[in-house]
Amino acid sequence: MLADRIWHDAQMATMRADLEGVGLIDRAMIASKDGRIVYAGAKSDAPSGLDGKEWIGCHGALVTPGLIDCHTHLVYGGDRSHEFKMRLAGASYEEIAKSGGGILSTMRATRVSDDDELAYDALKRLDALIADGVTTLEIKSGYGLDLENETKQLRVARRLGNERQVDVVTTFLAAHALPPEAGGDKDRYIELVCREMLPQIARSGIADAVDAFCEGIAFSVEQTARVFETARILGLPVKLHADQLSNLEGAALAARFGALSADHLEYTSEEGAAAMGRAGTVAVLLPGAFYFIRETKVPPVDLFRKHRVPIALATDCNPGSSPLHSVQLVMNMGATLFRLTVEECLLGVTREAARALGRLDRVGTLEAGKHCNLAIWKVGSPAELPYRFGINQLSARIYRGTGELTC
Ligand code: NIG
Ligand code: FE
Repeated sequence: MLADRIWHDAQMATMRADLEGVGLIDRAMIASKDGRIVYAGAKSDAPSGLDGKEWIGCHGALVTPGLIDCHTHLVYGGDRSHEFKMRLAGASYEEIAKSGGGILSTMRATRVSDDDELAYDALKRLDALIADGVTTLEIKSGYGLDLENETKQLRVARRLGNERQVDVVTTFLAAHALPPEAGGDKDRYIELVCREMLPQIARSGIADAVDAFCEGIAFSVEQTARVFETARILGLPVKLHADQLSNLEGAALAARFGALSADHLEYTSEEGAAAMGRAGTVAVLLPGAFYFIRETKVPPVDLFRKHRVPIALATDCNPGSSPLHSVQLVMNMGATLFRLTVEECLLGVTREAARALGRLDRVGTLEAGKHCNLAIWKVGSPAELPYRFGINQLSARIYRGTGELTC
């Protein structure tokens, strides 16, 4: 077969589930045709007759799947640096939220921004992630809090995927905070989300999944369950901001609905972890938010291991709790703050992140049939990725077979 491109002499971390750890293959080659991988393995095992129009020597460089950021709030108006100042002066994240700031302050800035303004700002953030090696990312709404403005956020998120060489997966997060026009009535707002907003969002096809914020300062288990039931009827997969600031047993709730993922999870109990393990729900850990709001309770990583819960890592890029724009840094934080192993950090931003998005059939590992999305690194061994921080170690990024042709 004549492939379009062949990368060779790579130290390839395939992330294949049937191999140990990150599935390392030495002296590897990866062949792509029409944007897909047609061969990824040892050069010595390559099928005879496989040739390429272009050959790219990697000189022993580490090659991984393109990075996947499976939890972001990338599209929003304004910023929250003023609240950062308040927090430095002693106010807590929850206190600011309760006094009308927090998510509602970003809601106000988002509602007064038009599509072009939102896209202009979000593209700067997206470009930072692309320069970091990201080829797939998830983007949530949740700062519009009414149909018109939630739709606007999701429309802009889809547009970003057309304006850059990146796959965007969108998530509808109207159950993020209570908008002021709801007059303090959370049940009534959830009714609106379920009766009017969700059916229209599902009809328009603008969201790939549904999320909610289950927390004292947001929505209860019962309110979240109503949103999830509606999503189920409409055929949309769910995920959840769970157990971030307290334990409401959000993890178990997510598992009960077969959620793709439960995210944050600092306060998750053993029952919650066990339920996630049984349901196959991915634990998406967000060390940027943990760090930035100066949380001290570390998510129960040992329980996730014990109950075989897949672990992913993401930036949670958002203006309030995690203005973080680097998946490379997330790997370092996952290791340093949460004591994840090197393998868990790398798998967390590739294979397990793909699983958390329901995209494992297309991306997340280097195997024939998947999109040829690659991150080629200036390093030769996996441990070097989470080890250094504050430096961009990416050498080249390949999206569907195209991108820089030097390693
Ligand atoms: O993932 N936890 C809730 N939502 C976001 C924060 C949103 C914000 O503060 O603007 C999070 O941390
Ligand atoms: Fe979040």
